[in-house]
Amino acid sequence: MRQAGRYLPEYRDLRQQAGGFLDLCDNPDFATEVTLQPIRRYGFDGSILFSDILTIPRALGQDLAFAAGEGPVLGALPDLAAMTDRLNSGEMAGVLHPAYGAVSQIRSELPDATTLIGFAGAPWTLATYMIEGGSSKAYAATKAMAYGAPERFSALMALLVASVAQHLVAQIRAGADAVMIFDSWAGSLDRDAQLAWSAAPLRAIVERIRQSEPQTPIILFPRKAMFAARALAGIDPHVTLQVDYANDLKAAASLDFAAVQGNLDPGRLLSGQAEVAEATRSVLAQVDRDRSHVFNLGHGIFKETDPDAVHWVLDAIRSQA
Ligand code: CP3
Repeated sequence: MRQAGRYLPEYRDLRQQAGGFLDLCDNPDFATEVTLQPIRRYGFDGSILFSDILTIPRALGQDLAFAAGEGPVLGALPDLAAMTDRLNSGEMAGVLHPAYGAVSQIRSELPDATTLIGFAGAPWTLATYMIEGGSSKAYAATKAMAYGAPERFSALMALLVASVAQHLVAQIRAGADAVMIFDSWAGSLDRDAQLAWSAAPLRAIVERIRQSEPQTPIILFPRKAMFAARALAGIDPHVTLQVDYANDLKAAASLDFAAVQGNLDPGRLLSGQAEVAEATRSVLAQVDRDRSHVFNLGHGIFKETDPDAVHWVLDAIRSQA
C-alpha cells in the first residue's frame, strides 16, 4: 500500500532527481529502484510494483498530471471509440510498456523468496477519476452517469474491464507473482451498485485473467464495500481479499477466499512504539492461527509516518511468528 511513498527520504530524493512522480513511473530503472528501496530497508515478504492506477486512463488517451500537493488532475474524458481503439490497437500497452520493463527488472533483482505484486485500479475507481477529472468526495458526476446514463456508463466500464485485465496479464507475463486490484472508492456505492459496479467488474476481470493465467494469486480490494466482498467470496480458489481498517477482519476471514489480507489503520503508525506494537497484535489476534492471513495496512501509509514505526510493526509480527 504505497509502501514506497513519501514517508521515505530515499524516495523523496529520487523523485526530485527524476523530476516528478510520473517520470519515476515511466523509467524502468527508477521504478525498479523505488520498488526495491523499502525491501532493502525492511525486508518485507512482498513487494509492490512502483506505478499508479492512473497510468491506464493516461494510456487510453486521457491527459494526466500530478500537481504538487493537489493530487491527480485529468483532462477531458476521451471519446469511447478512441479509447477502445487505443486498447485494441496495442497503443495502450505501448504506453504502459515501461511498467512491464520494470516488473521484469524488479523480479530479477528481488530475492527469490520475495513476492512481486503487480496491480491496477478497479473499473469503478478508475471511472471516478476519469469522469470527475481527479479526486472527489461525493462522485456526483460519476453517479449521475452510472444511474442516469447507464448505457454510456456500462460501455465505459466494459472498456475498463478489458483494459485492466490486459494490463494485469501483461504484468504477470513480465514476471509478477500476484496481482492486486484496488477498488478504493467502492464504499461510496449502495448495495445494488456495489454488486453491479464493484463486484461484477472485478469478477469479470478475474475470469479474463483466468483464460490465460489459471493459478496466479489475485488480491481484490473492494474498500469499505462488504456487499461486494461477500458477493466475490468463492469465485476462484486463488483469490485473496484485502480488508480495509474500518471493516471486520475476523468476519472477512470466515468468507471463502484463499486468504485475508490487512488491516492495520495506517494512522496507528503515527504513535509510539508500544502503541504501534499493541495495535499490530490486535490485528493479528483477529485471525485464527490456522487461517491464511497476509498482514498489511488497511490503506495507504501516511507521508508523515516515522520510518521507524514500520520496524515496530514488523518486530511485533515477527516476535509472534
Ligand atoms: O507502494 C507504492 O508506492 C506502490 C505503488 C502505488 C502508488 N499508487 C504510487 C503512488 C500504488 C499501489 C498506488 C495505488 C493508487 N493510486 C490508488 C489505490 C490505493 C489507494 O490509495 O486507495 C489510488 C486511488 C491512486 C491514485 C493516486 N495516486 C492518488 C490519489 C495519489 C495522491 C496524490 C497526492 O498528491 O496526494 C497518487 C500519487 C501516488 N501514487 C504517490 C505514490 C507513491 C505519491 C506521489 C508523490 O507525491 O511522490
